[in-house]
Amino acid sequence: MRYLTFALAKGRLADQTMGLLERIGMPCEEMREKSRKLIFVNEELKIKIFLAKTSDVPTYVEYGAADIGVVGKDTILEENRNVYEMLDLGLGKCRMCVAGLPEMRDRLGKLHSLRVATKYPNIAREYFYHKKHKTVEIIKLNGSIELAPIVGLSDCIVDIVESGATLRENGLVVFEEICPLSARVIVNRVSMKMEHQRIIDVMDRIRYILRSGINDTNY
Ligand code: PRP
Repeated sequence: MRYLTFALAKGRLADQTMGLLERIGMPCEEMREKSRKLIFVNEELKIKIFLAKTSDVPTYVEYGAADIGVVGKDTILEENRNVYEMLDLGLGKCRMCVAGLPEMRDRLGKLHSLRVATKYPNIAREYFYHKKHKTVEIIKLNGSIELAPIVGLSDCIVDIVESGATLRENGLVVFEEICPLSARVIVNRVSMKMEHQRIIDVMDRIRYILRSGINDTNY
């Protein structure tokens, strides 16, 4: 039997996913030890789990380096890789929003050309071009996106809003919600055929755990 390989997004989501895998009977003891290791194996179950940078998870899955990936919907939309999206884990719920300074709320619709700062250029471009029919100049930033409208770099931002605290504490407001977000399970298209039974079995077990409401998934 070949290894079934999982790519997890490094950080809190990987910890939560490990808790979930443990609950479906696929533990990986090695991962409990804090280390800098990136790949973990359960020889008995023939599973391999590796930790990747969040934005790279869909790439590993599209190319088949991982059969299964667990990553946020924001990354799936932004990377737009050719993978199956199989399950919504309901973890890390938040929203992708357009936000900015309150005084810009009414002006935004009137401006012919907008400057939008974001970590998610594809999501932002898609939203403004196709939903709003607006020309936008995307300014790609790598973090602290909320700074951009405050210091005059952009007219608005497209970013994740979870509790809303970052916006609130910086005097910004949500203008529009683009979409809800949460962690999803994605699957490689070839693996879905070659390892169909094993993958379906994993999905069924996860669905069962999610339905039974055991969502204390910290590892
Ligand atoms: C994310 C996001 C917002 C913030 C939203 O940033 O980009 O800034 O969290 O969370 P809240 O609504 O609960 O305040 P992250 O913490 O990932 O850091 P970053 O600024 O480096 O992107």
